[in-house]
Amino acid sequence: MTRISREPAISPPPSKQRGSSSLVRLLPYLLPYRWRWIVMSVIALASTGATIVIPLMTRAVIDGPIRNQDQQGLWVLGAAAMGIGVTEAALWFIRRWLVARATLGVEADIRKDLYARLQILPMSFHGQWQSGQLLSRVMNDLSAIRQFLSFGLLFLVLNGIQIVVVTAILLSMYWPLGVVVVVSVVPITLTVLHFQRKFTKLSRLSQDQAGHVATDVEEAALGMRVVKSFGREDYSYERFDEKARALYDTEVDKVAVSAKFWTLLEVIPNLTLIVVLGFGAYAAGMGQVTLGTLVAFITMMLSLVWPIASLGFLLSMTQESFTAADRVADVFDAARDIHDGPIDEVPRGGKLELANVGFRFPASGADHPTDSDGWALRHVTVTVEPGETLALVGSTGSGKSVLAALLSRLHDVTEGRIMLDGIDVRDLSLSTLRRAVATAFEDPTLFSMSVAENLRLGNPTATDEQLAEAIDVAAADFVYDLPFGLDTRIGEQGMSLSGGQRQRLSLARAILAKPAILVLDDTLSALDVHTEAQVTEALGRVLGDVTGIVVAHRASTVLLADRVALLEGGTITHVGTHAELLADVPEYRYLLAADDDFAEALP
Ligand SMILES: Nc1ncnc2c1ncn2[C@@H]1O[C@H](COP(=O)(O)OP(=O)(O)OP(=O)(O)O)[C@@H](O)[C@H]1O
Ligand SMILES: [Mg+2]
Repeated sequence: MTRISREPAISPPPSKQRGSSSLVRLLPYLLPYRWRWIVMSVIALASTGATIVIPLMTRAVIDGPIRNQDQQGLWVLGAAAMGIGVTEAALWFIRRWLVARATLGVEADIRKDLYARLQILPMSFHGQWQSGQLLSRVMNDLSAIRQFLSFGLLFLVLNGIQIVVVTAILLSMYWPLGVVVVVSVVPITLTVLHFQRKFTKLSRLSQDQAGHVATDVEEAALGMRVVKSFGREDYSYERFDEKARALYDTEVDKVAVSAKFWTLLEVIPNLTLIVVLGFGAYAAGMGQVTLGTLVAFITMMLSLVWPIASLGFLLSMTQESFTAADRVADVFDAARDIHDGPIDEVPRGGKLELANVGFRFPASGADHPTDSDGWALRHVTVTVEPGETLALVGSTGSGKSVLAALLSRLHDVTEGRIMLDGIDVRDLSLSTLRRAVATAFEDPTLFSMSVAENLRLGNPTATDEQLAEAIDVAAADFVYDLPFGLDTRIGEQGMSLSGGQRQRLSLARAILAKPAILVLDDTLSALDVHTEAQVTEALGRVLGDVTGIVVAHRASTVLLADRVALLEGGTITHVGTHAELLADVPEYRYLLAADDDFAEALP
């Protein structure tokens, strides 16, 4: 189903910006991994500590053993410094290992929940969202969140600590030089903040554009047949090229921004270094600082460059993950307007009543007008007794498929109600309702799994005999001739099968579900006359046991039904037997007249 829109679809609506709150909501996903997390943080803290301590040890070495030519002291302190260095390296390794395990787990957990959410979200949601956008949220955005949780967050804290502690130490070592450093930190920080804002805007844009590119690739793969048959590969390529180029441009802009940023970031510390060296040499000459202190000072000062520089990168990563979390939250928060009812008992009778049913597709924004008054169905009232079969006949676009979709609550009625054995379908739990109502859609979708798995979708516990019976009724015995019989994997959307073959499998799938209500939406349309006759004959037997709703365009299918309802412009205008309608209703005659058998049979 597609949404009608004048604009090139930029659905879904731009994500709501919620600041950090979306990300905070995802934090509970860390809980199962909390011990790894805590250990990891302690280790990271320890290794930052080592980074700070090493210059201080250098000072001790230079001002102590080296100055006094104390061989033994040199060995001891040197060994200690080496020990700390090696430990630091080891700690980094352990941390990376821990962090990878913990955060990959978090990513997988969120991804699974997101997928589960997508499964329960209503058709109206899927009608509005491009699948490429969903794809990019499930893949790219989650990995942005993982990266932030795995090191962004941690380093933001650690670098903050390191900057404060090291600056304090620098000030206490020799305050005049310390002040020089502090002063030079100001322009760096301003630069960082300035570029971070630019970078964030660009990265938000590129995240959206990546979604568009994904959508295009996906549509191209699914619609390849159409594109090729019209020879419009060029057009399709151009459309893609446009989007790919937009993404490329944004990415290049991102690089340009960060290149400028890094250049400035090289220049400022180097200037500071020159000043510090000059002053420092002078102060050392005057005996105000020791040589060891000067070396330690410079080492420590330089160790500040990376934490400060990375602040920009970390802040934009933080922003990126906020955006990503917002985009993920959009999916989690999407209204689930079809809710479970309390009743779990599967209705077995199969009496179906529609009372004054009306349905209107949810207005997707004021700028998306649907047809005239917006109602797809209005004032539909009809009762189908248990075991009876009702044919739905109507011109194309009259609302037959919409009506079929209401029965299993793919959409909910906008007004009126649908009752199954006297119970409003909204009071039944969804799983119960969907066990009771099975639908074979007009566009039969098969999944990339084996034939048997596809058929068992509606009834996982069906025995082999039941499977064989359903295949028989649907005249789908061609499956036995497939290379691996029922175990043959059929391609994406069953592309390797013909339209009629797919229809028959979809029919067999619905029959196998053994529902109380069987809904066939124009399921026989793609069959040749002989196969159709064969299926119709067998269906007649199946429909004897269940309540059936059969959407039909052909008179031969109509004959399956006990009664016929004529749907015109979303309303049932006539109900009666086939013969009655043929005799009394000109519109009905007109709809079926093309069928030669019946044109002759007309009174
Ligand atoms: N997702 C949707 N959003 C908005 N309008 C829709 C949507 N799906 C269908 N419609 C509209 O609802 C009306 C009825 O559509 P429906 O698919 O029920 O027709 P139909 O009777 O099954 O036609 P056909 O015989 O061609 O299958 C049409 O005007 C269609 O444009
Ligand atoms: Mg239809």
